[in-house]
Amino acid sequence: MEFDSLRNLLYVVAAILFIFGIKGLTHPRTAVRGNLLGLAGMILAMIVTLVDGDLMPGWYWWVGGIVLGGLIGVVAAKRVQMTAMPELVALFNGFGGIASMLVAGAVFHETIAKAAERMGVSGESDRDLTYWMGQVIADAGMGDPVQVYLATVISGIIGGLTFTGSVLAFVKLREWISGRPMTNPMLKAGNVVALVGSAIFGAVLLVRPDAWWAYWALAACALVGGIFFVLPIGGADMPVVISLLNSYSGLAAAATGFVINNTVLIVSGSLVGASGLILTKIMCVAMNRSLTNVLFGVMAEVEEGPSADEVYAGKVTATTPDEVAMLFDGVQRVCVVPGYGMAVAQAQHTVRDLANLLEAQDVEVIYGIHPVAGRMPGHMNVLLAEADVPYDQLKEMDEVNAMMEQVDICLVIGANDVVNPDARTNPTSPIAGMPIINVDQARTVVVVKRSLSPGFAGIPNPLFAAPNTLMMFGDGKKALVELIRAIKEN
Ligand code: TAP
Repeated sequence: MEFDSLRNLLYVVAAILFIFGIKGLTHPRTAVRGNLLGLAGMILAMIVTLVDGDLMPGWYWWVGGIVLGGLIGVVAAKRVQMTAMPELVALFNGFGGIASMLVAGAVFHETIAKAAERMGVSGESDRDLTYWMGQVIADAGMGDPVQVYLATVISGIIGGLTFTGSVLAFVKLREWISGRPMTNPMLKAGNVVALVGSAIFGAVLLVRPDAWWAYWALAACALVGGIFFVLPIGGADMPVVISLLNSYSGLAAAATGFVINNTVLIVSGSLVGASGLILTKIMCVAMNRSLTNVLFGVMAEVEEGPSADEVYAGKVTATTPDEVAMLFDGVQRVCVVPGYGMAVAQAQHTVRDLANLLEAQDVEVIYGIHPVAGRMPGHMNVLLAEADVPYDQLKEMDEVNAMMEQVDICLVIGANDVVNPDARTNPTSPIAGMPIINVDQARTVVVVKRSLSPGFAGIPNPLFAAPNTLMMFGDGKKALVELIRAIKEN
């Protein structure tokens, strides 16, 4: 078999490994295997690319890149906290974007240099540099020159935008700058000017492919555009933005795949592009917000709804851990619904201790997981997995809602918006239509949080004033430690 055919075959094998890898990542039980399959696909793709004759003279650059990149990856993966995963993903997206932008730029320069050399030796003064660039591209089997130039423009624009956008998202999540949404219209105008600028320079490059400066001008505009794109968006919306930038980094990589005529880069870039877009869509649906609203708007005005006083006055029943401990006497099924407050309190291990105690008393314990509980995709799953909660006890929203009427006690720990019944019953609420976990349908609801303060959406929650709800005020972890003590004493 010729090397070309073998290479393409191995690239297809690598692409299949990527697909099975992504499939594995859809469930916690298969996630590790999915990661390993993706890793195997990547190693295979890298080996095939190295063995490819074109790279051999510069193999030391290749190895140097792997050692340096691998070192950064290992240190980052070892040191990063689980809850800081979105930051790490943001940085990696940014690296992907800048790599695509630089590789496309480097290949473009190489093409110009080779074309200039051939023009020099040919002595044919009636043919310009653009003609010879076309020849270089055709001889390298890279396909149609216009397609290569177009892919170069796309790599430069999307790669540049992804890089600065991701770095800014990282900075916002680290809280090195304010995470508040910025509504200054100049920011949106700046974004439009930068993107129009990069489109103009892109058009120049397509008309005059020998104008190397047009590439760096469009890249510079895109880099500025990335800053204007992310700057107005609030820190809490960053997970959505990051999955969108993840998708962009895939698209930039796929475009670079067309530039260097590399099948596996086209396939893997498209996979990242599509899966990032699907995740963005899932998160927007679960938050009941359109993507345009996340990118260009802010949350609906809170003043429009009833005030906290109107919702809560005289209707909230506070309780104590000792009282709640008595409620657990003789119950059969308890559902724990965690939210952002559990992450803040780092109460996941205490939740597990409480579940162990209840299970020892033959109580069935399940966990209701809302897709956007917390502040990052899979936030609750990650925390509960860290505390060794068995996967089969974690129930997705639809599954747990179907069981809710048979739940004796629903223990809501630091969750607010994702259990707000207004989403279901009040069409004028800013979260109307948002899918929620129907904890209000359980026989008794015990809510653990420090006060009646609102959650991310900034609106009061009638659940706290419902007749079957008891409020156990306190820090999530401390309150649960007290509850465990009280149950043991009971
Ligand atoms: P939230 O609605 O934000 O409510 C969290 C609650 O935790 C707060 O009301 C707070 O009340 C309580 N809390 C904070 N610290 C606590 C502590 N130490 N101990 C006990 N309670 C504590 O959280 P949620 O229900 O998980 O909903 C998530 C929200 O974030 C949704 O609106 C969602 O759209 C949004 N969002 C999610 C994502 C992703 S991807 N998950 C991304 C962006 C935005 P107190 O201050 O009274 O304690």
